[in-house]
Amino acid sequence: MKLAVYSAQPYDRRFLDEARQNFAGGGVDAVYFSDALTLDTIPLAQGCTAVCVFVNDQLDAQVLAALHASGVRAVLLRCAGFNNVDLQAGHALGLFMARVPAYAPEAVAEHALAMVMTLNRHTHRAYARVREGNFSLDGLLGMTLHGKTVGIVGAGQIGAAAARIFHGMGCQVLISDPMPLPHLAAVARHVELAELLASADIVSLHCPLMDSTRHMINAASLARMKTGAMLVNTSRGGLIDTAAVIEALKSRQLGALAIDVYEQEASLFFHDHSSDIIADDVFQRLLTFPNVLVTGHQGFFTIEAMREIASVTFDNLACYIQHRPCPNLLPAGIAATSAAPTPAASPATTSAHTEAASIAPKK
Ligand code: NAI
Repeated sequence: MKLAVYSAQPYDRRFLDEARQNFAGGGVDAVYFSDALTLDTIPLAQGCTAVCVFVNDQLDAQVLAALHASGVRAVLLRCAGFNNVDLQAGHALGLFMARVPAYAPEAVAEHALAMVMTLNRHTHRAYARVREGNFSLDGLLGMTLHGKTVGIVGAGQIGAAAARIFHGMGCQVLISDPMPLPHLAAVARHVELAELLASADIVSLHCPLMDSTRHMINAASLARMKTGAMLVNTSRGGLIDTAAVIEALKSRQLGALAIDVYEQEASLFFHDHSSDIIADDVFQRLLTFPNVLVTGHQGFFTIEAMREIASVTFDNLACYIQHRPCPNLLPAGIAATSAAPTPAASPATTSAHTEAASIAPKK
């Protein structure tokens, strides 16, 4: 059978090919495309029974119907989040749709820590200064994290890992999550979001993007935060109202911002735009702040996570081929959130470059 891999980067190919070679099912031919899956790129999957997609591929009702009409029967997400998939449409078509629910929660939590440490101690600025022979410390003042209060919004696999890390550093950890979390009682205190926002020196977002969490960080919640606090988002860009965050940075209500995800990231991230004119003025405004750190959705990007993603993706495919029950099927019953990124609708550059019910969408 033939598998079309969309949004494929050289590193995807490396790890997927490695997993394909170890694939017990055998007989899978993979074709790799750097293009994202959109209505326009569906013809690339001609003759393929399965497609393999990532966080910014478009899997709305129209795309799923067109894929099905072209003979595709299985959709393999090489990520955990499925906020870009119209679940109802996919299930109505009878598509096999599976994901990689967890691959390295610690990797993302560690990246959140890396961003906090960088932004707090200005190591990114120090690096550039020292290379130019500038050893001035002016502007590099940070705070000691030990004893500070860190608020974790969403304490699932990644949030729990982050809570353990910050607890280990001597921080007071607060968590906000609708689920009971008795297993975290030794490292964190479970509080309401309002208390967390009012008390935390650092707020780190680790809950999924759903209609109910879209723009959970907005002008009102920013006003409730401690003046000068740091906001970290390694979850999904849509959790934050970026325009409101820019205003809070300008007024100095927000002390610092670290983001690995951005609401309109689909047309920017995972590609080299260094020779392009970036047309997204909101994104460009963010980059002008000395107290803003942006990384391009690399929280998951470790060798261990890439191996796990590739191997579970092929396990899922084996379930489809061998008609075995698959533990990683996408749930039925909830529609894709309106916050799902739509690359065609939000071009951010002039370049030609063309993530049920009881389970919450995530990467
Ligand atoms: P998870 O499903 O294990 O945990 C999510 C937690 O959020 C759950 O405990 C859930 O009860 C909680 N939650 C749901 N609604 C909430 C709300 N309104 N307020 C507070 N908490 C709420 O998910 P996991 O694996 O920890 O991933 C979290 C998110 O991280 C994913 O949704 C995904 O968007 C993002 N992610 C980012 C990656 C990156 O590379 N930057 C990589 C992998 C995931």
